Amino acid sequence: MVGRQYVIGNWKMYKMAREAVQYIEKLVPLVERCEANIFLAVPFTAISACFQAAKNANILIGAQNMSDAKEGAFTGEIGSLMLKEAGASFILLGHSERRHVFGESDEFIHRKVIRALQDDLQPILCVGETLAEREAGETEKALKRQIFTALKQIPKEEAPKVILAYEPVWAIGTGKTASAKMAGDAHAFCRACLAEIFGKKIAGSIPILYGGSVKPDNTKELISQEDIDGVLVGGASLDPESFSKIVHHCEKKK
Ligand code: 13P
Repeated sequence: MVGRQYVIGNWKMYKMAREAVQYIEKLVPLVERCEANIFLAVPFTAISACFQAAKNANILIGAQNMSDAKEGAFTGEIGSLMLKEAGASFILLGHSERRHVFGESDEFIHRKVIRALQDDLQPILCVGETLAEREAGETEKALKRQIFTALKQIPKEEAPKVILAYEPVWAIGTGKTASAKMAGDAHAFCRACLAEIFGKKIAGSIPILYGGSVKPDNTKELISQEDIDGVLVGGASLDPESFSKIVHHCEKKK
């Protein structure tokens, strides 16, 4: 357990800039004095407006994907420095929708992690097994492959800047959450992988968040697990009231 819990909202491809600002105006008073790290991963077009709206609040704004290149002839791509210029301070990488809908490979995600660290954008590395992998008893094999590939060649001193998010693919947007025990076991395994790569002390300081159908009414149980340091929330982050309830549940585990 790393101390203050992390609560990250992933809005995916929802909300125009104007709606995003209205959301933040509603959220700010609901979480004003909360002792949790609150992040919102918003659409590219809303980053700048959200950054302005959240400027004096305890909320960090980030993005959901980026290029592995610094700059270049890559039509339609967006670079880390562009995101930072707009106000992003973190980046989701390797989200299951990027891996499975857009075919991103472990190696490609690795290059993005390196790029984010080089350009000082905090990487939130997402990993998780598919239903087929879980049913074949290959959950740990899948997690190990994703974690080891993404984090190879990262100097130990850079490792504490990384946040890991465990999101079982079968639990995303399906209403099926992993049981607290199942999530706790997967988190302990992720922590052991981090310890193998960076040593036990550094592994203990890297937050590992759970994602996949997190809702206000299942948060408490999930975060009661030793190795769960917060949550990554999709659908339930779209409404400021429900997102703030999740933040309040998390802040109780300090
Ligand atoms: P849901 O909370 O909607 O299942 O989405 C999870 C997710 O993908 C967060 O990144």
